[in-house]
Amino acid sequence: MKKIYPCIIGLGYVGLPLFVSLKKKFKIVGYDISKRRISELNNFKDRNKEFSRKELTLNKGCLFTSNKADIKDSNFYIVAVPTPIKNNKDPNLIYVKSAFTLIANFIKNNDIIFLESTVYPGTTLEICKRIIQKKNKNIHFSIGYSSERINPGDKIHNIKNISKVVSIDADNKTISSVKSVYKNVSKKIVFTKKINEAELSKLIENTQRDLNIGLMNEIMILCERANLDFNEVLRLAKTKWNFLKFKPGLVGGHCLPVDPYYLSYFAKKLRFNTKITLAARKTNNSMEEFIFKKIILELKKIKNYKKNKIVVMGLTYKSDVPDYRNSLAINIFNKLKKQNKNIKAFDPIIENSFIEINKINNNFKEIMKSEIFIILVKHKQIDKAVKFAKKNKKIIIDPLSLI
Ligand SMILES: NC(=O)c1ccc[n+]([C@@H]2O[C@H](COP(=O)([O-])OP(=O)(O)OC[C@H]3O[C@@H](n4cnc5c(N)ncnc54)[C@H](O)[C@@H]3O)[C@@H](O)[C@H]2O)c1
Repeated sequence: MKKIYPCIIGLGYVGLPLFVSLKKKFKIVGYDISKRRISELNNFKDRNKEFSRKELTLNKGCLFTSNKADIKDSNFYIVAVPTPIKNNKDPNLIYVKSAFTLIANFIKNNDIIFLESTVYPGTTLEICKRIIQKKNKNIHFSIGYSSERINPGDKIHNIKNISKVVSIDADNKTISSVKSVYKNVSKKIVFTKKINEAELSKLIENTQRDLNIGLMNEIMILCERANLDFNEVLRLAKTKWNFLKFKPGLVGGHCLPVDPYYLSYFAKKLRFNTKITLAARKTNNSMEEFIFKKIILELKKIKNYKKNKIVVMGLTYKSDVPDYRNSLAINIFNKLKKQNKNIKAFDPIIENSFIEINKINNNFKEIMKSEIFIILVKHKQIDKAVKFAKKNKKIIIDPLSLI
């Protein structure tokens, strides 16, 4: 087997953990278009707060770079760039296309490429492969897709112990090279030759989750209308052996609010009108208004509440992650701010870029001078702050536990 020199393209929530897993074994290049991200990583700083200084220390021959030419000696490329949606909710593959255009400039005979970004079926073979082929008519290369199931902030289901789908249709020599790389990422590889099926499997994982949370959100809103205790309804239903234990909540992040649109786009291309795929999207987004109204209702119960110092606790899209993409908590905070511009926010773990742009003051002592605490996202550090606030007899509004 030839010597493998991997290269990760896109060093975000997905790409960096891959890089860290592989750097122990290979001379690996980590490439990102963001010069800021590269400079931070070279200073052992992960803005996503997943890795320590020690974990980011590089062995000889490994490299973080935003210099395109540095990928020239690589022969195993893994692409982990964002796959957002456009304003009209269609997939936006601009980052994927630019990553493959870059690889097309450097690819050599027998190189291997994997796409790990979440995409709709056909993207790897009909879009990415063609970008490479167009520029390299006489070069033989192999291309595959591996879905990423990483769950940032989750210490139990980490990259090493979650099973990983790896799909490629190639000769045995290539497949053993692929296995020799991916066995360092995950202990449980689920291998398939069917790339389109692997792409679709990723989309349904997240769509299924979005739908189930959406159903719980809908039932919760219904209980409120009917004046029924949702928690009691749920407690009773859960006693059935096959009842799925989903909870209502604020759905955000880069995956759940996006992936069902990729699935629906794929169906639309085939002129198939899916009826369930997007059913939860509206309901899950409507939770922003639902929770906002709940908060206002609680605030109005407090005499002269506008004269009090109010703080919103937690802004990211879920607890214990700094990621704030598509965060409904941020939208709720902005709505509250429109009503009362003195309202403050506290989020000790949100990405620095948000703190800088929005001038968030995370000074604990300062925040503890507030009189009303509205809790939206329960990071461990926020739990501690809330305990402290309770001890000091502050007013706590916890709209998600009022559910
Ligand atoms: N975040 C998650 O929990 C998660 C989980 C599973 C799958 N995914 C999927 O993985 C993919 C990546 O998501 P992410 O959360 O890591 O995104 P991210 O925004 O955290 O990271 C992407 C990185 O790619 C870089 N980038 C963009 N275009 C580039 C290019 N052309 N060349 C090199 N670098 C480029 C960006 O600067 C950024 O640092 C998406 O398709 C997402 O749906 C994400």
